Amino acid sequence: MKLVVAKDYEEMSKLAAQEMANVVQNKPEAVLGLATGGTPVAMYKELIKMNKEGQVDFSKVTSINLDEYVGLSGNHDQSYRYFMNTNLFNHINIDKTKTFVPNGLAEDIEKECKEYDERIANLGGIDCQLLGIGNNGHVGFNEPNEELSLGTHLTSLKEDTIKANARFFNSIDEVPTQAVTMGLGGIMKAKKIILIASGEGKAEIIEKLLKGKITTQVPASMLQMHNNVVVIVDEAAAKLVI
Ligand code: PGA
Repeated sequence: MKLVVAKDYEEMSKLAAQEMANVVQNKPEAVLGLATGGTPVAMYKELIKMNKEGQVDFSKVTSINLDEYVGLSGNHDQSYRYFMNTNLFNHINIDKTKTFVPNGLAEDIEKECKEYDERIANLGGIDCQLLGIGNNGHVGFNEPNEELSLGTHLTSLKEDTIKANARFFNSIDEVPTQAVTMGLGGIMKAKKIILIASGEGKAEIIEKLLKGKITTQVPASMLQMHNNVVVIVDEAAAKLVI
């Protein structure tokens, strides 16, 4: 894994945006795997700026998001579809019909998961997957566990993830307890992976990601086995590894 340490959150966001823009500049019809959460917000702002300035063109890009809460419609302001629309898609020249987020309201979740994986395969796989990382080492909603799943699947959120995400809801009781997420297999099949993290709170998990044992109890540690990962963090998140 290649480690890039930025001065602060702003610089991390710019470097990550540039890294992803490079993928699209080299392959205009790239398939981008996208992520939600607090961390990518400024990176998406930077991509919007680059798109408006003509430095990157998303008109031929397809996007595939990592995950979605079960039970929230795409219009719910905490759904990941809504997040993607408001933080990125509404402001760039991407064709919205080519942006995919799992359907958290699907009646048949198993079918939804299977079709999601088929869609990724039919697109020829993901060229560049963006990832955040949970304090517990989750990527997407692949939570620490005895076993990890290969494909897109229904999963239950761990207590610490529910607590961490409660900051976006009015109360912790409103946080959905289940999600549909791409599996570790789907993530590992991406041709390139960019993982971003910012702040001292992520320092311990970044150390585990880079230097810890490969274990299903730290799902992100699987990325050590991928041959094209760039980890872009700010100094605070890198403080235990530099
Ligand atoms: P965050 O979430 O960007 O809000 O820290 C990361 C994650 O949980 O994957």
